[in-house]
Amino acid sequence: MLNRIEELKNSFLSEINKIVTREQLEEIRNKYLSRKGLLADLFVELKDIDNEIRPQIGKSLNELKGFLQDKYQEFSNSMAIGDTAEQNLDLTLPGRKLFIGHRHPLTIVLEQIKSIFWGLGFRIEDGPEIETDYYNFEALNIPRNHPARNMQDTLYISEDVVLRTHTSPVQVRVMEAKKPPIRIIAPGRVYRRDTPDASHSPFFHQVEGLVVDKGISFADLKGVITSFAHKMFGPDIQVRFRPSFFPFTEPSAEYDIMCASCHGKGCRVCKNTGWLEISGAGMVDPNVFKAVGYDPEKYTGYAFGMGVDRIAMIKYQMDDIRLFFENDLRFLSQF
Ligand code: DAH
Repeated sequence: MLNRIEELKNSFLSEINKIVTREQLEEIRNKYLSRKGLLADLFVELKDIDNEIRPQIGKSLNELKGFLQDKYQEFSNSMAIGDTAEQNLDLTLPGRKLFIGHRHPLTIVLEQIKSIFWGLGFRIEDGPEIETDYYNFEALNIPRNHPARNMQDTLYISEDVVLRTHTSPVQVRVMEAKKPPIRIIAPGRVYRRDTPDASHSPFFHQVEGLVVDKGISFADLKGVITSFAHKMFGPDIQVRFRPSFFPFTEPSAEYDIMCASCHGKGCRVCKNTGWLEISGAGMVDPNVFKAVGYDPEKYTGYAFGMGVDRIAMIKYQMDDIRLFFENDLRFLSQF
């Protein structure tokens, strides 16, 4: 029995001298010092020992117990100090991941659009999202009861105040405040009474463009839009204009940009048409000039709209506009 006490002490010492972590120390405590540990086993055997030598063995066992407990405590204390020291530093642990913020895909695309137009000599203007009926409709040659009002499902705040349905009212505000020449874009959020689905959202983003000066023509408009498309999607991307109607432009057009995914061949993104509708454009209607006090005999100008969300969806080949507004990090962190 005395031998086994000696053996237990030696194996305990050799094991505890090798430990590095607190977990290992706890393992040793469990193995030797717990209620079902090796030391407890020896105490159980004590009762089968001959009466004569039992007191002596008992004493040795108690000494062993004291020794093991002291050693354990000693290591435990030194580890508490070592917890912050290098001996406890596990250099094989994988590093903590830093989460880096991302710009929203719409912000990225909008900044790109702004920088392209900035490079073409446009200034950037801003207007209110809560707009009066006058700026949103009336001054843009859309009188009350005009059928064109139905084109835009308006969210009314009161009879005369709306959430702007497009960025076109900024045209009017800029022209009221400044004399020609004017060369601006006005990016911003717009609102419509739409039920959300893959291609509709009750709010989305537009960029309005307006250029007014002497001798501006439709060719200038085509040149600017084409140059924008080349810079945004690539030099071989074409633009086409289709006749259309908007009350604030005459003549009016809608314009499409060749699908950058298939280069006009037809694919899933463009629903096999080869083209993607962007928005409308045209020559500023003389009635709009009259509303802001410009002389339509002296000045001409062009205006265009642009759907930012659409452009971003084309750029990132997305098929659901709602992804922009759901704040799902699995989507957002890709950009
Ligand atoms: N405001 C129009 C819309 O939201 C788009 C538009 C069409 C803007 C023609 C224009 C334009 O500046 O000339 O549907």
